[in-house]
Amino acid sequence: MNETAVRASDEPVLVRSSRESDVEAMLAIYRHHVRAGVPRDVEGTGAPEPDDLRDRRKNLKQTRLPHLVATYRGDIVGYAYAVLFRKRPAYRYTAKHSIYVHHAHLGRGVGRLLLQELIDCCAAAGFRQMIGYIDADNAASLALHQKFGFTRAGLLCGVAYRHGRWSDTVMVQRSLGAGTTTPPPSATPGR
Ligand SMILES: CC(C)(COP(=O)(O)OP(=O)(O)OC[C@H]1O[C@@H](n2cnc3c(N)ncnc32)[C@H](O)[C@@H]1OP(=O)(O)O)[C@@H](O)C(=O)NCCC(=O)NCCS
Repeated sequence: MNETAVRASDEPVLVRSSRESDVEAMLAIYRHHVRAGVPRDVEGTGAPEPDDLRDRRKNLKQTRLPHLVATYRGDIVGYAYAVLFRKRPAYRYTAKHSIYVHHAHLGRGVGRLLLQELIDCCAAAGFRQMIGYIDADNAASLALHQKFGFTRAGLLCGVAYRHGRWSDTVMVQRSLGAGTTTPPPSATPGR
């Protein structure tokens, strides 16, 4: 995997699978956004410890879910990953994802590259639906997802409390590949 976005008269941004040695840089990006008030997701449970991120990376490799970084001049400028939407077997064709771009590289196409690669990887792995949870005030993420064909699937009211107020979360969804028009190739009748 080696997606590129060429910046005008500049070096390209590259997207590749994350490595163990990328974890600290990913955490630094995440911590900045948490301090700035962006929740990780609906749970919004605070900054993950390095070991959480390492474990998640390893688990995702086993399930063929993507865990990606974007690099610019060798530095990590964003990361993105997908996890199973729910762990029960019936939900095995639905992924839930997250994207974080370094605060100094916002608005330069990094999020677009990461989301495109996430979609492509999840589709190639046989997933049929992608779900995102986005804070209702997060205009950038809402616009990015709309651009990639995600539609609003629901509004979860007052599910997060931070900075002294309740906030809503928008659930967005997009189908991949054949979506719901055909059963998954490996389906056995009744399962
Ligand atoms: C959301 C986020 C990933 C977007 O990444 P980015 O690299 O800044 O976005 P891009 O430059 O690739 O922009 C892609 C599209 O997103 C939308 N977008 C990006 N920034 C925007 C902003 N500030 N306001 C409105 N729309 C915006 C635009 O539609 C843009 O397309 P355009 O350039 O053709 O107008 C980034 O803002 C981020 O990391 N935010 C903090 C963490 C976060 O909120 N993650 C998502 C949690 S659900």
